[in-house]
Amino acid sequence: NKKITIAIDGFSSTGKSTIAKQLAKELGYIYVDTGAMYRAVTLYVMRHLFVTETNFDEEAILRHLPFINLRFVFDEKLGYGEIYLNKENVEKEIRLMEVSNNVSKVATVSKVREMLVQQQQEMGKDKGVVMDGRDIGTVVFPDADLKLFMTASTQTRAERRYKELCERGENVAYEDVLKNVKERDYMDSTREDSPLIMAKDAIEIDNSDLTLEEQSQKIMELAKEAI
Ligand code: C5P
Repeated sequence: NKKITIAIDGFSSTGKSTIAKQLAKELGYIYVDTGAMYRAVTLYVMRHLFVTETNFDEEAILRHLPFINLRFVFDEKLGYGEIYLNKENVEKEIRLMEVSNNVSKVATVSKVREMLVQQQQEMGKDKGVVMDGRDIGTVVFPDADLKLFMTASTQTRAERRYKELCERGENVAYEDVLKNVKERDYMDSTREDSPLIMAKDAIEIDNSDLTLEEQSQKIMELAKEAI
């Protein structure tokens, strides 16, 4: 069986990672959550480089980039890697609302993108990879064998994210989650460097009205056709 590269892009909270993890597991591929990488850099910036609560010094980020080390450590039980920021497991902390509120801004910095894209290309160089994010099919792997673009209504996505956060015990208001989803959509699709757009050869999957099972089935079929 030949190994392929699968790129999954889309707006926030469209269920990309759920489907990507599942796909990677079934195919025996590695899964790379590129959003986690942008989130981990953001966490670093929040801890060390914020000038005010929401403002950072771009020059300072550039100086610190060589000291930001990211690694995914594979967890047998989970079936995928958890992200480490300079040897610390930050998988939980990067999902906090505060990080979500700042990540899209940090993701506009070209040098940050350059560094992360290079690491992503390295992780996927032997194929057999499912990678999700915003620019995988357009920038990271423009030659990916299968490109999916996930969409769902803003309402559906905010509701899902809200439920997820509540289940994790975070004390958030639905209105704030909705606002964050909208803001990230806007910033991610209007930024100058690598904006979120659907690659010409991507297959769009609107999952507003699909059950997880229907969606998995459809995507598994597409993957099998591509292999
Ligand atoms: O996928 P997730 O929602 O965790 O991504 C968090 C943020 O990281 C996105 O809203 C976007 O600003 C940024 N990101 C990006 N490019 C990627 C993945 C994520 O700019 N490939």
